[in-house]
Formats: sequence, structure tokens, C-alpha cells
Amino acid sequence: MRYLTFALGKGRLARQTLELFEKIGITCEEMKDRDSRKLIFTNEELKLRFFLAKGPDVPTYVEYGAADIGIVGEDTILEEGRKVHEVLDLGYGKCRMCVCGYESAKPLLKHHEIIRVATKYPNIAKDYFYNKKHQTVEIIKLNGSIELAPIVGLSEVIVDIVETGSTLRENGLEVLEEVCPLSARMIVNPVSMRMESDRIKDLLKKLRTQI
Ligand code: PRP
Repeated sequence: MRYLTFALGKGRLARQTLELFEKIGITCEEMKDRDSRKLIFTNEELKLRFFLAKGPDVPTYVEYGAADIGIVGEDTILEEGRKVHEVLDLGYGKCRMCVCGYESAKPLLKHHEIIRVATKYPNIAKDYFYNKKHQTVEIIKLNGSIELAPIVGLSEVIVDIVETGSTLRENGLEVLEEVCPLSARMIVNPVSMRMESDRIKDLLKKLRTQI
């Protein structure tokens, strides 16, 4: 039997993903060791392999078949636009993609002014402003701490993930518009979906009992 390979997004979702897998009897003790620099982990008994990757790279590994299955936030799946099958909403990692900024930026959105939008998600932001709102904007790609942008005057608004809302609150910013709700998703390589359909169906069945 060949290994079924999983690419898991690093960070907030990884812990919950490992917890969920444990509940259905898939364990990988090695992976819990935070100090380890090991990149790939194997469960010989079940013929499974796991690796952690940066979120935006997960759909890439899955599209090319280097991983059969990926687990990552829907924000990343939407942003990357890779050819993968989205097969399951895992129910955790719930948050919202929002347009945020100072309250004073509200009229700029309402009147479709040409404004600057800072974001880690240029494709999602483009789709929202151009295709849904029909508002011409300038999109500025950033890689983190997006909330800084309106504070230091880089942009009028941001498009970013809001989970608890505390980052916004602590910086005097607020949600101005909601783009879409988000959660953790399981994605599958289209070829793996056919070649490993029995194992994948069995995995999905087990996961569905836990979510
Ligand atoms: C995310 C997001 C917000 C924050 C939202 O950033 O970009 O900054 O979390 O969470 P909250 O609503 O619970 O405050 P993350 O911590 O992933 O890091 P980043 O700023 O480097 O993108």
C-alpha cells in the first residue's frame, strides 16, 4: 500500500487538526514535539505521512499531487485558486474575511471612492471590490500585521481575517463590511480522489462523525 500524504497548514489550525485526527485514531506523536526540526512524519501502521507547510503552500502541494490531502483555511484556498477538490468543512478555525478600518472610512466605501486596500489576500480583495462591489481600488499586498496599514496611513482600509475582533479593538479599528465567513477545509488532489477513493471515503466518513 502506498502512503497517503497529508499537508497541514502550520499555525493556528495545526493543533486542532491533530486533535481531530487523534479522535479518529490517527496519531502522530512525533509531530507534537514543537522543538523538533523534522519536516515529515510517518505513521507506518496506517501508511500515512504528514508534513506541516506554510498555509498558502498547502494547496500547491495538493494540486501537484505531492500531498494527496491538505488541511488549510478556506481563505487560503480562495486566495490561491488551485485545482483541488474541496471535500469537507472541518468546522473549526471559524472566522470572517472583512473589510476593516477606522469608522471614518465608511463613507469612502459607500461612495465608491478610489481608495487603497492593504491585504495579505489580493485576489480575494480584488474579487470583492471589482466583481461584487464594482468599486475601483488600489490593492497593496502585505505579509502580516495588516492592521498597521490604516494606522500609519498606508491605506484607508484593509481586507483581513477577523476571529475574536480583539486585534481591531485594541487598535481602534472596526469591521466595516463582511466579505465572507471562513473555516478550516479539507482539500484533495483530483487524481488521488480517484486512485485512493476508498481510503479517502473511509477517512471522510470517520471525520464526519466528529464534526
Ligand atoms: C490574523 C489576522 C488578524 C488577527 C485576527 O493575524 O490577520 O491580524 O489574526 O484575529 P483576532 O480577530 O482574534 O484578533 P495572525 O495572528 O494570523 O498574524 P499576521 O498578523 O502575521 O497575519
